[in-house]
Amino acid sequence: MNGKKLAGEKAADFVEDGMTVGLGTGSTVYFTIKKIGERIQNGLCITGIPTSEATKELAAACHIPMVALNDADHIDLTIDGADEIDPGLNGIKGGGGALLFEKLVAKASGRNIWVADESKLVKKLGAFPLPVEVIPFGYKMVMKELERKGLQSTLRLKDGRPYETDSKHYILDIKAGNAGDIQALGAWLDSISGIVEHGLFLGIADMAVIGHEQHVSILKKEPLC
Ligand code: 5RP
Repeated sequence: MNGKKLAGEKAADFVEDGMTVGLGTGSTVYFTIKKIGERIQNGLCITGIPTSEATKELAAACHIPMVALNDADHIDLTIDGADEIDPGLNGIKGGGGALLFEKLVAKASGRNIWVADESKLVKKLGAFPLPVEVIPFGYKMVMKELERKGLQSTLRLKDGRPYETDSKHYILDIKAGNAGDIQALGAWLDSISGIVEHGLFLGIADMAVIGHEQHVSILKKEPLC
């Protein structure tokens, strides 16, 4: 837990007065949001864009002024968690089920910072089940299509019933460990009818703040030559 707290709180330092800030979802960015709330009490002036109902509630409790994505004309910076991060700062997200709103906000954002503890760093993406958000109508057809591609998936459940996202979609968790070319997998998932979004966030993060037991480290995306 310490690594999450250290990373989450450190990332709040990158928020500057006047910014519109995408607020991610999860137990690491929780600490960022709390810290931003403290800074607001001390005069910081920002507008937040929440990526889930849970984050909206938390940000409201921290007195962070918010607008909905549809009412924002730009986003300066988004800070969010991740489930896996590879050395190129590609990641898997959606363990908390907020991947659709998270990706929309991240793609609209000028800069993206991920916060995570060191356990999230991997050499290669895919050990963590890849979340895929699907419409409930015909989700079994999507599962069959995935299976034809050699991808086993599991319908995410909560209290014995299908887990529902904030958009009332379902989530399939895919075993993607042996999927090979992850860029190609992302493009293929984008092409399947019934899939609303998937948790491969490729080329989106600019920086990751990683929390270790006693310190944080900063990873930056290599500039393209
Ligand atoms: C939610 C996410 C989270 O950012 C991700 O699951 C990491 O969460 P945590 O910081 O709790 O480990 O993608 O959809």
